Amino acid sequence: MVEDPMWLAALLQAARQVRAHAHAPYSRFAVGAAVLDEQGRVHAGCNVENAAYPQGWCAETSALAAMVSAGGRRVAAVVVVGEAADPVTPCGGCRQKLREFAADDCPVIVADGQQVRARFTLGQLLPVSFGPQHLGFASDPKGSQSTNARPDSTSDTAPDFAP
Ligand code: THU
Repeated sequence: MVEDPMWLAALLQAARQVRAHAHAPYSRFAVGAAVLDEQGRVHAGCNVENAAYPQGWCAETSALAAMVSAGGRRVAAVVVVGEAADPVTPCGGCRQKLREFAADDCPVIVADGQQVRARFTLGQLLPVSFGPQHLGFASDPKGSQSTNARPDSTSDTAPDFAP
């Protein structure tokens, strides 16, 4: 068997820890997620439900928000932790959110409190996906360029408007 990469233990631990903070009084279904960014940093998040049900959001979304808020711009790996008979795979909306920052070969590892339950790539979970390149952005994680810039922009990070 191929040995687990170094980052897996860190992501598993972070996702399991943050799952304990889930705000899930309605579904009683706590989820934790952790993402590894391009600098090797780990960002974690849990699901946050709301009494107005559609306003809640998933653990993967929280983890992505933490990454972006910390300045991360690429997802190198994802771990999702939940407890269910079937492995807790990311919902469709979260697959698309992950796709904004991750390449097709990004590992998405699904676990519970005890063990890894399943391993996917993002491309397996969201094949033939829509992404930034459809809008003419060169920042697509699928593409060869790794900038945040539009093709006609001169800066990697500057927004298209003056503040
Ligand atoms: N949920 C996640 O946080 N991530 C997943 O991958 C699947 C579902 C949350 C949303 C909701 O708070 C609860 O689990 C039940 O759907």
